[in-house]
Amino acid sequence: MISSPNNKSSGRVILLEDVSVRFDGVAALSDMTFEIEAGEQLAVIGTSGAGKSTLFRVLTRSVALGSGRVTIGGQDLYSLSRRRLNGLRRRIGTIYQAYNLVPQLSAGVNASLGEVGGMGSLRTLRAFLTGPDAGLSERVRAALEEIGLADKAGVRTADLSGGQQQRVAVARLLVQRPDLILADEPFAAVDPVTTERVLETLLHLNSEGATLVLNLHDVEIARRFPRVVALREGRVVFDGPSERLTEDELASIYAGDPSREESARNPDPPFARHGNEGAIRLTEGRDGVSSH
Ligand SMILES: Nc1ncnc2c1ncn2[C@@H]1O[C@H](COP(=O)(O)OP(=O)(O)O)[C@@H](O)[C@H]1O
Ligand SMILES: [Mg+2]
Repeated sequence: MISSPNNKSSGRVILLEDVSVRFDGVAALSDMTFEIEAGEQLAVIGTSGAGKSTLFRVLTRSVALGSGRVTIGGQDLYSLSRRRLNGLRRRIGTIYQAYNLVPQLSAGVNASLGEVGGMGSLRTLRAFLTGPDAGLSERVRAALEEIGLADKAGVRTADLSGGQQQRVAVARLLVQRPDLILADEPFAAVDPVTTERVLETLLHLNSEGATLVLNLHDVEIARRFPRVVALREGRVVFDGPSERLTEDELASIYAGDPSREESARNPDPPFARHGNEGAIRLTEGRDGVSSH
């Protein structure tokens, strides 16, 4: 277990110490040090290429460390045996821009993968051959209903819209009930209604004890989070309450980002949109890099 509602106040759940990652000699993360408390809601922001997706890949040990140490739930992530690593990963729920669903399978089967990932191989095989057992079927149904896709359980995921696919990814989390949720730009390609629905569900899972870490290219949703960490060129350049994200801070976090400078030239207003329609920007944020 990484955390549970019962030990929500038990302090930090993730600790990064001087973490560096390099790709072909080029630094993606440099000397990154910060911690995340159990049950926290954390938004990670930064321009495209700042290192946000690499940070998430570090947290699932999906990329080699150049140096430093990552501790999750008191365990040194990069020293775990393969078996213990797999056990830990089952407690981590992920949502990526590309949804990481199996397009040929139905929405219901994709949602049930939240559980299948935690089952032994015999039960997994049986679930695929004979369908999920009654308990799992009911949880899948309830999860799809919660995110408004009750009527899509049998539909091939590839035939759903992007927003619906993102909601299937969230249904999978509802089935999985992870201790830690890593959502990498979950709103990059979805409409405002889906954004609100997905955010609401993620916050619901958080209220039940899951630690929630989101990567956002766009700062407006980050403002709704109590704590924001900003990355720039692989380094933490801001870590604090979102109210402290002043225009000056944002200007330095996003300096050189063409989409930012564009919005600064055409104030809409630039960094402080209010109201429901203006609050969420949908046209940017696909960085393409995380699909490497
Ligand atoms: N697999 C990879 N191979 C080479 N370079 C990579 C790879 N993944 C990421 N990078 C580089 O690392 C840096 C950080 O990328 P990334 O973490 O994807 O940024 P973000 O998610 O903030 O857009 C970028 O310069 C990117 O080009
Ligand atoms: Mg990314």
